[in-house]
Amino acid sequence: MFVMHGGAGTITRQNLTPDMEKQYREKLEEALRAGHAILAKGGTSLDAVETSIRILEDSPLFNAGKGAVFTHDGRNELDAAIMDGKTKRAGTVAGVTIVKNPISAARAVMEKSPHVMMSGRGADLFATQVGLEIVDPSYFWTERRWKDLQRELMKENAASSHKGTVGAVALDQAGNLAAGTSTGGTTNKKYGRIGDSPILGAGTYAENESVAVSCTGTGEYFIRWTVAHDIAALYKYRGMSDHPRREGQLRDAVQYARDVSGVGRGGWRAARADL
Ligand code: GLY
Repeated sequence: MFVMHGGAGTITRQNLTPDMEKQYREKLEEALRAGHAILAKGGTSLDAVETSIRILEDSPLFNAGKGAVFTHDGRNELDAAIMDGKTKRAGTVAGVTIVKNPISAARAVMEKSPHVMMSGRGADLFATQVGLEIVDPSYFWTERRWKDLQRELMKENAASSHKGTVGAVALDQAGNLAAGTSTGGTTNKKYGRIGDSPILGAGTYAENESVAVSCTGTGEYFIRWTVAHDIAALYKYRGMSDHPRREGQLRDAVQYARDVSGVGRGGWRAARADL
């Protein structure tokens, strides 16, 4: 099983041209097919999640990697996480600025360091030392995201907006779950703000006993309500067996994040071993 999301956001039917919709659908399909192909050949859920997210990170369409939004200071600071449901090993990076594919940096933290989370310059240095592809910060400059920032800066009391965090969850043939999430965060974010994506249990979580979860939405709420872990806990502790009822309860679990976030946008994708 392989499931992805390209983020909650402010894309509506009104501001989505047919050509843009086609581009989004094609890129999502390419990423989905790549992840699915790995699973079909007996590959691991971790490889499927990382590979598919890298494809979306390389596209300017999504708020992750190349298409990351700008901070208040006109920089791009990227967050990502990956988690292995079998072992509960995980790696996350926050505020990286020169790593082309933050999801691979997160995986390197998991596999090549004794740590779980690295941030800022240290995370950039680690990614460089382990041989990941490094880019000049200008690589992340896109006109569309720059204009988004200018619009936010012009609004008084500008609220941060958010479009297009990407995520994937996978179940491989060995029965192992994995989850990954990658984002540029929120447009106009300040003071080293970190969202939910690289925080395990908030925006990303995986454990074989329950589910793999990747969330999208306004991170502050997902952190405060530990949404990803709550979803896993619903599966684990409530022992839900009836699918429609379980879906209803999961919707309740994230409804508060939507309700209180003001922008009213947020969501998640989950995969479970017995679905
Ligand atoms: N959900 C992504 C973020 O708030 O940074």
